[in-house]
Amino acid sequence: MIWPKNLSNKVKHNVNLAGLTSFKIGGPARYFFAPADVLELSQALSCAQKARLHIFVLGSGSNILISDQGVSGLVISLNRQSFKKISHQGSCIIAGSGLKLSQLVSYAASRALGGAEFLAGIPGSVGGSLIGNAGAWGYSIGSLVEQLGVMDYCGKIRVLSAKQLKFGYRQSNLSKYIIIWVKLKLFSADKQTVARQIKKYLAIRKTTQNSRLPSAGCIFKNPPEDSAGRLIDQCGLKGKVKGQAAVCSKHANFILNTKGARFGDVLALMNLMRKKVKVKFKVNLEPEIKIWK
Ligand code: EPU
Repeated sequence: MIWPKNLSNKVKHNVNLAGLTSFKIGGPARYFFAPADVLELSQALSCAQKARLHIFVLGSGSNILISDQGVSGLVISLNRQSFKKISHQGSCIIAGSGLKLSQLVSYAASRALGGAEFLAGIPGSVGGSLIGNAGAWGYSIGSLVEQLGVMDYCGKIRVLSAKQLKFGYRQSNLSKYIIIWVKLKLFSADKQTVARQIKKYLAIRKTTQNSRLPSAGCIFKNPPEDSAGRLIDQCGLKGKVKGQAAVCSKHANFILNTKGARFGDVLALMNLMRKKVKVKFKVNLEPEIKIWK
């Protein structure tokens, strides 16, 4: 693989991905690149496209399960400073895609801007949360979007307005783009009310979900009008173990990496969860996490 001259020392080979994910599972990326800016991103994309390399975009690594064999394409990480800028214009926030949602929530709270409190405690990046329309407590990030700066996989930049975007439950029409920045419409609020709301959401999350062990958040999407966690729980699977992976005892839609779990351990548990729920409730569970292999 021949990269443009200015990138050839910057694209790394065989970079281990497990440590870059919240699950702490996965093998190496054949090529790994963290562009310094949009120009480098665009150059790497057009070069990878010409070579027909599969391109993977890593956000905060909180919603993915990676094969122990790793991935044979190019993994792009938007964790450099130019993708983590944040500013506000009146009650709108403009945030870089590499920023963590927790940083976005703190920024909004410190400027007395309301409307993003529900994102507190969701362990994702701004970009990843937009692609998957992350949400909680009946709200999702897509409903806040006013404008979006994206790059297509050929390296061309576009600005999309809200009416060009389609967000559904844990889905969007953005998978053909890499998110660069977003403009979110919030509203002026009382600083203490915002802080109290964030505290409340974090506290509920702590009692219903938190575990100190590595995980990837909810494994399956919720079926319409129900909770995947509730269905898995009703199948008696809390605490079920395969290898070093276990169904969480606090919330059955979480799988925990108890110590050195393998890709196959998690897949085996996922298959079991799907099978049991299908047999007992005639419901097909669909993964919410992205699987890279
Ligand atoms: N429940 C059980 N057993 C369990 C888990 C849940 O009986 O093991 C019951 C609860 O008691 C409750 C109902 O199921 O009556 C719903 O549970 P919860 O409030 O925890 O919400 P959820 O539907 O399981 C969704 C999202 C979470 C988000 C919470 C809070 C999905 C797949 N999950 O979970 O998002 O944090 O609501 O808004 O949409 C994620 O996307 O990664 C995630 C964790």
